This record gives sequence, C-alpha cells and structure tokens, in this order.
Amino acid sequence: MGSLLVDNIGELVTNDGRNGDPLGVRRDAAVLIEDGQVAWVGPARYAPAADRRLDAGGAAVLPGFVDSHAHLVFAGDRAAEFAARMAGAPYTGGGIRTTVGATRAASDDDLRAAVGRLRAEMLRQGTTTVEIKSGYGLTVADEARSLRIAGEFTDDTTFLGAHVVPAEYADRPDDYVGLVCGPMLAAAAPYARWIDVFCERGAFDADHARAILACGQAAGLGVRLHANQLGPGPGVRLGVELDAASVDHCTHLSDADVDALAGAETVATLLPGAEFSTRSPYPDARRLLDAGVTVALATDCNPGSSYTSSMPFCVALAVREMRMTPAEAVWAATAGGAAALRRTDVGRLTPGSRADLVILDAPTHLHLAYRPGVPLIRQVLHNGVPR
Ligand code: NIG
Ligand code: FE
Repeated sequence: MGSLLVDNIGELVTNDGRNGDPLGVRRDAAVLIEDGQVAWVGPARYAPAADRRLDAGGAAVLPGFVDSHAHLVFAGDRAAEFAARMAGAPYTGGGIRTTVGATRAASDDDLRAAVGRLRAEMLRQGTTTVEIKSGYGLTVADEARSLRIAGEFTDDTTFLGAHVVPAEYADRPDDYVGLVCGPMLAAAAPYARWIDVFCERGAFDADHARAILACGQAAGLGVRLHANQLGPGPGVRLGVELDAASVDHCTHLSDADVDALAGAETVATLLPGAEFSTRSPYPDARRLLDAGVTVALATDCNPGSSYTSSMPFCVALAVREMRMTPAEAVWAATAGGAAALRRTDVGRLTPGSRADLVILDAPTHLHLAYRPGVPLIRQVLHNGVPR
C-alpha cells in the first residue's frame, strides 16, 4: 500500500505528553504513515519522502476519537420516551426492557445492519475506535449473538448481561445473577474482552455486581462498570477495588469516591450525552481533574439515555457544561478513551501508534467546542486508509 505523508498540518495534536503539554501540540507538522501505522512525526520541512501525499491545507489534525462506552447492539428506538422526558418525566432506566423486547425479536441481519449504520455514523464524526456492549439480549443466546455481531465491528466488546434483571426473572434476581455468572458468561466470554455491570438502585447492588465481575475476571475478562449515574452508591469504590479499567458515568460522587479514584489506575469516564438527554445535572469534571483523576469522555450511545454517536458533541458539552478546558476535553475524548480501554496503540499520534487521525475543517482543536453542532470532520484516516 506504500507510504503516505500527511503534511501542511497547521496544528497537530499528538497526545505525546512531552514538554508539559498533554496534547503535545506541534505546528507546521507532518505525519508519515506506513503499513497502517504512524512511522514518523515532525516538522514538515524535515519530512521524509513518501509514495503519496495528503495536504491537510493548514488545518488541525487530531488522533481519531476513542469512544470507550457505547451500546450499539439494539433494535428500535425510544423517541416517545425522550419526548415524555422533555415534558417532565424522569429517566429511570425502566425503558431498557422495551429495547430488550425489540432486540430479542430482531434478526441477526437486522441487528448487524443497525450496528453498521451507527458505526458508519461514528466514523463520519471522527471516531476510529469504539467499544460496543451487549446488554439488550439478556438471554444466553441473545447476549452471545449480540457480542458476536459487536465483534464484527470492534475488538473492544463488552459483556453487559447484567444491564437490568429481565422481566422473566423479576421476582428471582439471585437466579438471574446465577445465569449471568454461569451459562451466559460461558457463551459470551469467547466474544468479549470486557465485562460490565449496571451497578445502580433498580439494577444490580454491590454484592451482585461484585459476584458477576469476579466471575468475569476469572473467565479472563477485564472489568468496567456503570457506576453512580442516577444517585450515590458503591459502584465507583467497587470498581477501584477490582482494578476496573474504567468506572463510567460518575455523576454522583462522594469525597471517598473521588479519593479512591485519585489513588487508582481506574479511569473516570464521563458521558455528558446522558445528562443532556435525561436533563440531569452534569458530573463534576473539575473536581475529578483537580484531584488528579484520569478522565475520559464517551458518548454512551444507546436508544434510551443518550442517542448520540457524536464525540464532538460530547467535547462541546464537556467544555460548556462541565468546565473542562477544550484541551482537557479533546485529550479525554482521545487519549482518555484509550486509557479507559487500556490501549496504547490508539488515542495518540506517535511513532508506532495506529494511523487513526481526523483532519478538521478548522485551524485548531478549539473549534470542536467553539463551533458546536457544526460538521467539522473533513476527513478521517482509519488504519492509515482515507474513509
Ligand atoms: O449507560 N445506565 C444504563 N445503561 C444505559 C442506558 C440504557 C437505556 O436506557 O437503554 C446508560 O445510560
Ligand atoms: Fe451506558
């Protein structure tokens, strides 16, 4: 496929963390791509020769977004539930069962097409890495097929059999936990890299979550967790206890939760699309950042609480509503997402990383928050290939 030189880059975000600048911004830069990887980064005037050239036209170039939290395997939508919320109804998570019914009734091909549509939508908006969860099947067969289909689109597949207790187990949740830890995990694990639990009042308590996550760890899966979304709770501290790669939502945190995160490797992944779409107070990103916690941003794309596939939208929300600086938000949407997936090959543009990059229709990364809702992604390269 030969080498490709992307040059005439006005502002290059590398996330190399050098010189005290987390974004590792370089001016008048070029990037050499070989075999789908970044081979060289430096000043354009020193760029090595290449087979082909892509002129960035003086624009900003960023690592592709890493969306570390998405629920893409589902059928139907819940637009009426959204409309009811905007008229004052609260979000409870109760609608998850509606999507479970629609997902179980869908064919494999319909689900595959639905995931493909959302994956393509994400790519157009600059997302080059996405994590995809199951969690709308909630039977052994439906969870396994959700993950099999998810695996056609990403390596970062997450088993979320413990999303809610399905209606048929409503009066015997212990039996459902037994199913998740037993036959469901056995069927899901070959297709999953991660295990996740919705640890929240109305879903799974700390004891159930700990049991399920421990079974997943024993089966070789990495841990991540939905925690402290709808109210305070034990999820964040449980995630830290189990060395979760990430605890996600983090909307209602105590001082003890923040302290636990500050002393841990666990990333706090914030999902402002959920607060936007449920009209809820945003998480306190400043408190986490000021405590030294690693913060990621992700879409939480799902038909209930956050039906957006747009990382630029989440960056804009994080800056305007959560008081993250534009630089912090861009880092969280790229390198932060990679940290939340414990990946070192994406979320940065340094020699050896995957050649996943976006060319903006803008001179700097600031425009992602400064020009909300504007399609600023001019071109996406995924594995070095223009898409
Ligand atoms: O992350 N909180 C649990 N799961 C999703 C919402 C799922 C749904 O409402 O369908 C979330 O917000
Ligand atoms: Fe979620």
